[in-house]
Amino acid sequence: MTISSEDELAALRQIGRIVAEALETMGKALEPGITTAELDRIGRAVMEAAGARSAPEMVYDFPGATCISVNEEIAHGIPGDRRILAGDLVNIDVSAEKDGYFADTGASFAVPPVTRAVERLCRDGRKAMWAGLGAVGTGKPFAGIGQAVGDFARRRGYTLVRNLASHGVGTSLHEEPTELATWPDASERRVMAEGMVFTVEPFLSLGAEMAEDGEDPWTLYALPRALTVQYEHTVVATRNGPMVLTLAER
Ligand code: CO
Ligand code: CO
Repeated sequence: MTISSEDELAALRQIGRIVAEALETMGKALEPGITTAELDRIGRAVMEAAGARSAPEMVYDFPGATCISVNEEIAHGIPGDRRILAGDLVNIDVSAEKDGYFADTGASFAVPPVTRAVERLCRDGRKAMWAGLGAVGTGKPFAGIGQAVGDFARRRGYTLVRNLASHGVGTSLHEEPTELATWPDASERRVMAEGMVFTVEPFLSLGAEMAEDGEDPWTLYALPRALTVQYEHTVVATRNGPMVLTLAER
């Protein structure tokens, strides 16, 4: 969507804070022994207490309030009886709706003990997202996001998953502008309008180039199999640059 009033911005800020709080609460609850279903219930409770509804459940009938993807899984993992183990790499994606407005956020968490390589991958995954967010602003080319993320990944020797894109969000979970590349894409010609709302959610990997389907209709796996992280914020393009909506209150 493109924001056209202060009321719309306030509603988006509200749902942005809610998903950020759910993500943060789930991240803190992550420890060896917890199941992904238990983790999902914690996220659902935060959303429901704030009057919000899980977007994947509402829009796609996803079997869970949040997507939780462990190790070889990189996205759209289904919460269930899998127990988190020490050393796991866990991606949590939270999106929700309140009063007709949607926001989307996500992060990867490493469960201690964490190897140096995974610690570096997580830190750089977040930096890759911020490199992309830094290219956001009114009148700027969408191609700048993929260029910035691509430059960052190449300099540090990472690969990027190239078939899971960022997207417009706001009045639904996925809307125009769709298929926003977070990798260099020479065919991208669109430009950010003032107030446009979308996600920036690159996947940074130690070797994966694609996400591929598995046995169930949801879970996506890294191809080739390699450790992969993803960080996601919902952002508004403004004259002053990026306005990130999915930050938790401090
Ligand atoms: Co998401
Ligand atoms: Co998204």
